[in-house]
Parts: sequence; structure tokens; C-alpha cells
Amino acid sequence: MSRNIIVGQSGGPTAVINSSLAGVFQGAKDLGATKIYGMRNGIEGLLDEQYIDMSEYLKGDIDVEILKRTPSAFLGSCRFKLPTYEKSPETYDRIIEVLRKLDISHFFYIGGNDSMDTIKQLSQYAKEKNITDITFMGVPKTIDNDLAVTDHTPGFGSAAKYIGTTIKELSRDCVVQPIDVVTIVEIMGRNAGWLTASAALARGEDSDGADLIYLPEKVFEMDKFLAKIEEVRKTKKQVLVAVSEGVKTADGKYVCEAASSNMMVDSFGHKALSGTATALADVVKSHFGCKTRPIEFSTIQRCASHIASLTDVNEAFLVGYRVVKAAFEGETGKVGIYVRVSNKPYLMNTDIYDVNAIANVEKTVPENWIINDGTYVSEEALDYMRPLIQGESYPYMVNGLPKHIRL
Ligand code: F6P
Repeated sequence: MSRNIIVGQSGGPTAVINSSLAGVFQGAKDLGATKIYGMRNGIEGLLDEQYIDMSEYLKGDIDVEILKRTPSAFLGSCRFKLPTYEKSPETYDRIIEVLRKLDISHFFYIGGNDSMDTIKQLSQYAKEKNITDITFMGVPKTIDNDLAVTDHTPGFGSAAKYIGTTIKELSRDCVVQPIDVVTIVEIMGRNAGWLTASAALARGEDSDGADLIYLPEKVFEMDKFLAKIEEVRKTKKQVLVAVSEGVKTADGKYVCEAASSNMMVDSFGHKALSGTATALADVVKSHFGCKTRPIEFSTIQRCASHIASLTDVNEAFLVGYRVVKAAFEGETGKVGIYVRVSNKPYLMNTDIYDVNAIANVEKTVPENWIINDGTYVSEEALDYMRPLIQGESYPYMVNGLPKHIRL
């Protein structure tokens, strides 16, 4: 049986998605793969026969180490919704045709819940067509931390570390002038508030961190929001608010929709969320007549590998490796997951799980972790997040800047 594998990256990148790619590469190499191919821009590129031989880029251990520390998706990514077999049988025939051409026995896709739909559909198709010589496996990824079953997702810890750190630093800057200022920071995560919740990590004996934190799990009420700011302003001149890009008002509209007339929508039907902080800062400015400063972390929060969590980098590598091992043992239609064995001390294990329980499912922050009338998160939430941001993963610095690997 051939042992050629192919791996692709899909969806929004993270600071450690390349560490999982390195784990897949290393696992496949150690377990005797003959060829290790990488899809250019995920399944979209594969359909167009765009792929590389990864061994040409990863010649030695040092290249693998640099890959682990390089942010964003080395192979390029895509947001491509695989049509169902009923709708487009030719797409499936084409994928199998390309895989056969390369004599692929194992297909790996690193992505979030949307991307896992690709694994779900391809593994189902293979089962129905009795294609037993190609396995289809998923490697988890997303800063949003919204994947079901797994304890957390690769990429979340590093983004959370960046957010906790930056909110802490901002909380120093926003108090520097003796004037009234409301700083509003917008954080990614779409419909799940995990990342926004990580703003709470900034609070400690040397920092107030964020005063108010708004997650998308709760309906956003403008009157209550202004009243809360008023309340904080009674005790301090400067207010720091963390808000999710995905907060919605009672009518189901994103707050940022009010500020944008034509929002882009991707192939999964997700609106491109941006502008929440600016929209809220405008309302606050006219209501209180004070200075406001909207800050959108945007893509910086998912590519800040200079402040990546070592725990995250290592786990991302491990789960990639684990999925390859499982595939080589004959598993298909499964996704790598993390299982938290204990919290103090933090012990984590990897496993694999049925893709049907993970694809297209969004895991949100538990209701009872959102406290203070929907403006902060509980100690339990902090206990869950703290182990994930531990440890420093420094880039290899060359001429004072991080060294990256690219195609
Ligand atoms: O899915 C990860 C994510 O980073 C979300 O938090 C965010 O809403 C989205 O991607 C942004 O996607 P894009 O960069 O494609 O606009």
C-alpha cells in the first residue's frame, strides 16, 4: 500500500496552524510516508492541482522548527464550502482523480468547524463508494475556540495570550492623560465569546485590565451598555471595554452592521465582521461627549506569533502528529481533539473523535461563566484559560526580527 499523504490548511489562520502542519509532516516522515504533499490554498487549490512536495521546503529539523514558529498558513488557505455530493458529484470525482494521480493514501485537513465539513463529506463519500484505500482525517484549528468535543482548540491559547497581554499594556496607556477617555477594543471570535473572554486574563494586582467585557452569547443592549460605562465613570476617568466582533442586538443584527451597508459574506454564509468598536465609540462619544478610542485587533490577534503560547505551539504539533498516527493505523472520518486530564497541574492528552460531532457545530461560552449582568467572566472561565497561555515560544530572531519560512 502506498504511503503518500497530502495535507491542506483551511479557514482563518492562527499563530500555530503551522505547528500542526509541522506535526503532520514530522509524523508522516517518522511513520514512513514516501511523499508528503501540501495543498496550495486547501481544497480549492487541490481541485486545480495546486500542490507542493513539502520535503523540498522542509529539508532539515531547523526548517520544521522555523515552520512551528511561523504564523499564518504556510500552504495558503481558503474558505471553500464543498458542495454536497448530490449537488456536485463531479467535484468529488475530481478530488479522487487528483488524489489517485498522486497515489495518496492519507488526506489531512487542518481547519475549524466549517473546514471539518470537508472531512465529513469526503469520508462519507469514500464510505458510500467503497473507497477503502484513502483515509480522510481532520486536524483542529481556530482562534475562536468554538469546536465541539475538544477541550480547546490549537490557536486559541496564543491569541488569548496576545489579547491578555495587549489589554494589559493598553490599560497602562489609556490612563496616561488626566482626561475622560473610553477605549473600546474589538476582538474576533464570530459567534463565540471565548477570545473576548480572554481579555479578563489581563486583570491582576498590577492591572485593572478591561472594566467591561461583552460576549456575543448575550444580547447586546445599548442602553444598558451606556449605563454600565456611566457606572464605571463614577470611580475612574478612563474606561476600557473589550467587545466581541459578533455582538448582536435583540433584532438579531450584528452591532457592526449598523456601521456598514454592504458586508462581505463568505461561501459559508458568514458575514465579515468589523467595525463594532468604531460603531460603539461613536455612540459613546455623542452620549458622554468624551474622547473615545476604538481599537480593532483584527488579524493581528491571530498572527502574533512573537507572543505565542508555548503550550499552544507544542500541543498543536502533538495533535497533528497524533492524527497522522491514527490515520496510519487505519482511522478515517475522525478529528484530533484535546482531552484535559487535570487542571492543576495542567495535563492534556490528545485523542481522535468522530467528525460528525464536530463539523459545523459551534461551541459557545457556558451561560454560567458570563457574570456581572453580562459584562465579565467568572473565575471558572479564568481557570480554564490560564493553563493555555503558559510558556514562551520565541521566534528565531534574525537581524532583530522573527525568521519565517515561506513558499
Ligand atoms: O474563523 C476565525 C476568524 O478569525 C474569526 O474569528 C473571524 O470572524 C474570521 O476568521 C475572519 O475571517 P477573514 O479573515 O477571512 O475575514
